Amino acid sequence: MPWRETKDPYLVWISEIMLQQTRVNQALPFFNRFIAEFPDVFSLSKAKEDRVLRLWQGLGYYSRARNLHFTAKHLVRSFGGSLPENYQEIIALKGIGDYTASAILSISFNKPHPVIDGNVERVLSRYGGISDPVNSPEGKKKIRLLAEKFLDRLDPGTYNQAIMEFGSLQCVPSSPDCRICPLNESCFAFRKEKVDLLPVKLRKVPVKTRYLDFFFISDSKKVMIEKRVKNDIWKNLYQLPMIESAAQLSITRLRRDAAFVKMMGSSDMKLEKLFEMSHPLTHQLLHIRVFSTNPESRRDALFVDRKWVKIDQFDKYAFPKPLEIFFNMLKRG
Ligand code: ADE
Repeated sequence: MPWRETKDPYLVWISEIMLQQTRVNQALPFFNRFIAEFPDVFSLSKAKEDRVLRLWQGLGYYSRARNLHFTAKHLVRSFGGSLPENYQEIIALKGIGDYTASAILSISFNKPHPVIDGNVERVLSRYGGISDPVNSPEGKKKIRLLAEKFLDRLDPGTYNQAIMEFGSLQCVPSSPDCRICPLNESCFAFRKEKVDLLPVKLRKVPVKTRYLDFFFISDSKKVMIEKRVKNDIWKNLYQLPMIESAAQLSITRLRRDAAFVKMMGSSDMKLEKLFEMSHPLTHQLLHIRVFSTNPESRRDALFVDRKWVKIDQFDKYAFPKPLEIFFNMLKRG
């Protein structure tokens, strides 16, 4: 893991942001490409946001990339390009919460802040026998007390990385091999046979379902795309022209939909479904369809803020994962 070879706060920052919600093996190639192009905060601060998002394509949670870029510019403008070394200032930065602040401060600056991520919560709730939900206020308080208590204040960076890795390799979510665990004798959950019952987690917020229909409009070798400006998961990524509906519409209903008619200027064009998939995210379930269509009248409204791009130029743009999958399917024929 290249971020283990360094205490450079910039590299620790990038790696810890990538490793949130992404496994080490998956993040590794992204990390290497990212730092090859942006080896320091100055190069990142000068980048175009489109390029940063393109390098992030496939990792998901794109607000992480937008915030990284924003904060890089802020650091260059207001901090001479350095990450601050104290908790108050570093946690005030956009995209840096308690986890990232503690990781950077401990690993890069040897400051005694415990990191608390999902792995750490699991290890501590089992080892210390915390049965309050780890995402409840009471559970969080108890986890933090234990985290502060066990933290190695002489080498907090190594300790923090060790406990996270212990959680991801040994104290795994299901069926951990406790017989070989070096901590089993003093582990509450092992001694009381509660390993499978801990940690307790409150049910997450209900999943919101969204229905997104994209339109593949092509003119010989070029395809119409647009930048997604709406402030949500995919803000500032590119996409095919899209209509979101409250429910899955039949093709007939879709064609008569007000948003569709407004976009295409007509409701009697041919629509052919090329692609369909469900795309589960943490708090949303997306139903994606892609239709080919050919608006006959080249209406101005459809062209405003959109552009025609050759398919072989698509790798210059960051697209949401489902569209990337669709384009790959097209390329394969
Ligand atoms: N998970 C996230 N960051 C980590 C790190 N620095 N070491 C081990 N596991 C991690």
